[in-house]
Order: sequence, then structure tokens, then C-alpha cells
Amino acid sequence: MFNQETINKLKSIPTPFYYYDLEVLKQTLHLAKTESEKYNFIVHYALKANVSNEILNIIKSYNIGADCVSGNEVKKAVECNFNSEDIVFAGVGKSDEEINYALDHNIFCFNCESIQELEVINELAITKNKIASIALRINPNVNANTHKYITTGLEENKFGINLWELDAVTNLLKTTTNLKLIGLHFHIGSQITDLNTYKSLCIKVNEIQNWFEHHNIKLENINVGGGLGVDYHQPDTNRYANFASYFKLFNNFLEVRPHQKVHFELGRALVAQCGTLISKVLYIKKGVSTNFVILDAGMTELLRPALYQAYHKIENLSQSPHSSLLSPFYKYDVVGPICESADCFGKAVNLPETFRGDIIALRTTGAYGEVMSSAYNLRDRVKAIYSY
Ligand code: LLP
Repeated sequence: MFNQETINKLKSIPTPFYYYDLEVLKQTLHLAKTESEKYNFIVHYALKANVSNEILNIIKSYNIGADCVSGNEVKKAVECNFNSEDIVFAGVGKSDEEINYALDHNIFCFNCESIQELEVINELAITKNKIASIALRINPNVNANTHKYITTGLEENKFGINLWELDAVTNLLKTTTNLKLIGLHFHIGSQITDLNTYKSLCIKVNEIQNWFEHHNIKLENINVGGGLGVDYHQPDTNRYANFASYFKLFNNFLEVRPHQKVHFELGRALVAQCGTLISKVLYIKKGVSTNFVILDAGMTELLRPALYQAYHKIENLSQSPHSSLLSPFYKYDVVGPICESADCFGKAVNLPETFRGDIIALRTTGAYGEVMSSAYNLRDRVKAIYSY
């Protein structure tokens, strides 16, 4: 992915830092928009994946809405000039302050996750003499077949209103004066690579829609969430998520009523491949059964491997990728400098012979990379640079 000119440029910048290729971002957004527009689907960007201003401004320019999970994300979306009617707000624990902020900015919709939350939003809306537009986030009990920490649509998960609560919810909505039900919301998990999972979701959503129609409740909007996975193993061959098949599947299997709008909330699939964490080798250390490559980036810059045992492709940008023709690759455990044994980016990683000072790329880190970084061990906050 990196040409020599880019590599030379990256080598001159103090590490560690995130490098974002904005051309890759634009191509991804273009594809997502083109494929979704074939069916008049509405795409929102899940801010939680990456909140850099540069990235948000580009996403906004593609007429993509904002999916937020905190008051500060709503604020960020407002500051980046997303239209309030394009902002949705989900989350199991919205505080009163966060709800009030969103009410003040007349956002498109609160995706509500519990009965008590509905009562609180109603009370706060009464105080402000406003009508809050709400969608019910329903837990459809569909298995996303992904890592358990990023599975959200099973009954055992904390997210959404359970199917057995629907009677109680619809009864409550008959009494709440300042709530307007505008639709249903679903999000079953993240890094979903088997599209059949979405077929199961569609079938479940169709059943749930029938239940609402049977109760004479009209739904203007169906939001099926996000979760579309990306290829962490082959970021160059499969740079773009399979947007065509993904949207086509929903068009084929979701029973959309003539008046209805269908919404998506994509995070990872839009921004993962445009980001790379660039780091430098501090030391090569011989272990008993392995050699360690010790980087100047660690779990403080990229938490995913430590938290989810996630794979990120690791490349040595200082050594020729063809050096295997001349000398064999070696296996290294690639680790960070943090005082935690979980601070490991990969075990037995195949790399050309690697030396102190080499520049290492951790690929596909544009989503849930920089946003999940921390200052643990009193580390400096990771920097970012952008290609223009
Ligand atoms: N909508 C809702 C309500 C969500 O909770 C999420 C992600 C999304 C949309 C966007 O999902 P995406 O298209 O990005 O899969 N930190 C984890 C991922 C957590 C995802 C949380 N929710 C990771 O690094 O894999």
C-alpha cells in the first residue's frame, strides 16, 4: 500500500503516530454512498470509530449522517456541522445532561434502550416543552457470530429492549405525552464478516415489524445499525468492505413498507482501512523460545489486540518486502513498551530481519484505534497525520 515516497515521508516523522490516507477514505465513502443510494438507503457514520475532525469533515461532505453514543459525540457532530435532523443518539446509559443537550439541539432521534429511559426522556422533554422523536432499540436475539465483547444483539447483552418487553413498552407509549415513536433500531454487533448473519437479522426484523403492524403502530423508519466487517488480513487486496453485497442483501430480505426509510450506522467499514499506526523499533531482544521486537507504540496507542485478541497486519517498512528472496523471514513476538503482558501486537509474526530503528506499520487501524488510545503509564497522547 505504501509507495517509497510515502515511506520516506513517514520515516521522517517522530513516532508513534496514526497515519490516515484520506484518498482511501474518500474512495470508501464514495463506494458506500453509491451502493446504498441504489436502494435509497440512508447511511449514518458511527462516530465512535474515529472522531478526528479531518475525517468527520470529509464524511460530512458525502451527506452521511451521524450516529452518536454519548453527549460529547452529539456535541462533536453538531460542531462539525452535521444537520441535527441527521443525528441519532443511542446508548444504554444516557445521562440527563446528555439527553437535555440532544433535546436542545433537536436531533433526529433517540434510540431508546430501556423502559426507564423512555420515561426519563419523556419527563425531560415535558420540562422543555418539546416532543422527543424516539426509536425503540430492540434486542432481536440474533447471534452476530463475532467476538463476544463486540456482540450486542443477544438477550444476555445489556443492549436494547427485549422482545418480551414490547407489550409493556407500547402500553407505556400510550401514556407518554412528549415522545413520538418514529421507528425501530437494531444493532447486533461489530466486525460481522458472514453476511448470512444479516439475513437472519432481516428475517427477525420482518417478524417484529409484523407485530407492530398487528398492534396498529406505523413505523416510518427502520434502522438496522452497523457492524459490517473489514479484511484485517489482506488490507491491500480487500481494501473496501463488500458494500455492494451488504446493501443488496438488505434490499432482498428486508420487507420495507412503501412509506419507510431504511437507515444504517457504519463505523469500521468506513474508516478502518484508511488508518495505519506507525511505530519504531526500540529494541530487539532475544527470548528463550522467541525474539521480541519492542516497539515505541503499545496498547496505549492500539488497544484492540490486548482487549479482543484482534489481528492487525504488521509490516516492516524499513526492510524490503522482497527481502525474503534474499534472506529468510524470522518469527518475532511484536510487543509494546507498556508494563502489561497483554501489551502484545502479535506472536510469531513473520518479518524480514528487523533492526533497532526500523519503522513498523500496524495496518487497518483507522477504526477503534486512536479513539481507544489512553495515557496509561503517563504516556503522551498519540498524534495523527493525514495525507492530502
Ligand atoms: N451502531 C451502534 C449502536 C453501535 O454500538 C456500533 C458499534 C455501531 C453502530 C458501529 O459498528 P461498526 O459498523 O463500527 O461495527 N471497539 C470495538 C468495536 C465496538 C463497536 C461498538 N458499537 C472494536 O475495536 O472492534
